[in-house]
Amino acid sequence: MRCSPSALKNEAQRLYQRLNKLGWTLDDCELIAPTTLEIKQLKTEQHAVILAHSYQTPDIMYGVGDFIGDSYSLSVTATTHPAQKIIFCSDYFMGETAKLLNPDKEVLVPRVAGCSLADSITGEQVRAPRKKYPHAGIVCYVNSYAEVKAESDASCTSSNVVEVVEAMPQQEIVFIPDKLMGLNLRTMTSKKIIIWDGICVVHEGFGEETVRDIRRRFPGVKILAHPECAPGVVALVDYAGGTSGMLNYVRASAAAIFMLVTECGLTDRFKAEFPDKQIVGTCILCPYMKKIQLVDVLQALRNPAPEQYIKIPDDIADRAQASLQRMFELEQEGKTLVKRGAGEAVS
Ligand code: 13P
Repeated sequence: MRCSPSALKNEAQRLYQRLNKLGWTLDDCELIAPTTLEIKQLKTEQHAVILAHSYQTPDIMYGVGDFIGDSYSLSVTATTHPAQKIIFCSDYFMGETAKLLNPDKEVLVPRVAGCSLADSITGEQVRAPRKKYPHAGIVCYVNSYAEVKAESDASCTSSNVVEVVEAMPQQEIVFIPDKLMGLNLRTMTSKKIIIWDGICVVHEGFGEETVRDIRRRFPGVKILAHPECAPGVVALVDYAGGTSGMLNYVRASAAAIFMLVTECGLTDRFKAEFPDKQIVGTCILCPYMKKIQLVDVLQALRNPAPEQYIKIPDDIADRAQASLQRMFELEQEGKTLVKRGAGEAVS
């Protein structure tokens, strides 16, 4: 696409306003301006909307994303937004969730990116615990493929997992596929939780000693962790919740120093959106989420490959939709059972 020098200059300035808090220079912004301009033009021509998970890179989140959010809020946005074409910048399973909730819309992912949790279980494998624990309910975390959702009684996300599990009619719950979140649910809920062996490669990387060290070195620090972290880590923090819950906690907090025990995209959001607050400690990059680059978003709009379109066979889609529908119902019932602390309003 040919752009006038003034359009490119204005675009670079727009990007710089958004990205300079994250250390981007005007030169950096000038380099990506032709790409972001073309993405914006194609998006407008195609009446598409770009959804970016909080673990995406800043140029995607702030350069071209129409909405940034967690897995829950982006699924809701996919449903409420009028656009018939959705470019979902995230792992494949999130694109699948958007497609399940919006079967008549076109949903594309810029890259087919896996997820260590989603890749740890197949639909077929869910049948073994179903047989072994016939009285248990099966709840699957959203980080799972449609075929796994289809075999589960209900789905959940990090933002409603406690409510969903509490509201399940069974006392015994098989929680798949996140082992560490399952272990956390043993203390966060009143249910007997049977776990699976999946882990998130980002969150299992954080250890208790790192958290203790930050606590010692920064008096007054507030430490926030994703419930995909080990229970020993979660026990040491001030708040455990999903990515939006963490941002909401920071927004509402008068504290000046924070540590976010999660993926680096969220720390980028923190730096961009709370420049007056200090962030300490380290973060870990998700090798799956970070596979997606700006040029992939452009390519998905310019010349999409067949594998970028989310397609789900009808027999799987029907049952997976039912599992997501059950999530929305149980979430509402669970709200009357669970008293939550700060955080997790959907942004
Ligand atoms: P959220 O639902 O909090 O966005 O988390 C999704 C995820 O993949 C965390 O690793």
